[in-house]
Amino acid sequence: MTVENEAQLVALKRIGRIVALTLQRMKERVQAGMTTKELDELGAQELERHGARSAPILDYNYPGATCISINDEAAHGIPGPRVIQPGDLVNIDVCAELAGYYADSGASVAIPPVSPGVRRLCEYTQRALEAAIGVAKAGVRLQEIGRAVQRVATRGGYQCIRELGGHGIGRKIHEAPSVPNWNNRAATERLHEGQVITLEPFLTTGAIHVKTAADGWTLHTTDGSLSAQYEHTVVITRGRPILLTLV
Ligand code: CO
Ligand code: CO
Repeated sequence: MTVENEAQLVALKRIGRIVALTLQRMKERVQAGMTTKELDELGAQELERHGARSAPILDYNYPGATCISINDEAAHGIPGPRVIQPGDLVNIDVCAELAGYYADSGASVAIPPVSPGVRRLCEYTQRALEAAIGVAKAGVRLQEIGRAVQRVATRGGYQCIRELGGHGIGRKIHEAPSVPNWNNRAATERLHEGQVITLEPFLTTGAIHVKTAADGWTLHTTDGSLSAQYEHTVVITRGRPILLTLV
């Protein structure tokens, strides 16, 4: 969507903050020995407490309030009986709706003991998100976001998943356009003021593609390499974007 008035911006900030609080609570509580279902229930409770609804359930009838993807799983991992293990890299992605407005945020959390390799992958993926935020402004082509993300990834010796990227958002989870995480020359569309999108680099230690697991949802790297993701929902301006998914 494109923000056209103050009331819309207020509504987006409201759901953005709820998403951020939910993600923060889940990040604080995630630990080895917990099942992904238990972690998801914490998220579901937090959303409910604020009167918000899980967007994946609302828009896709997804089997969980949040997506929890571990190690080589990049996205859309279904919460269930799987027990989180020491050393796991756990991605938590929260997308929710309030009063018809949507926001989306995600983060990867390394469970102790954290290996230097996992820590470094997380650092570079966060840097890639910062780089994307740094170039996302009105008039810039979507390709430039992908190029900024890929530059950081390459510098760190990492790859970007081609099929996974940011997206328009606001009145649904997924709206046009697709926001690439690699230097995609076909992404010629320019950002405009007020446009609401997500920025969400996915960096891996090897793979550039994902495939869908037998459960029909979970996307994992084709070669078993690790994936990390960090995501914010932003409003495009002529300068630095407004970050909606902050606590
Ligand atoms: Co997300
Ligand atoms: Co998203």
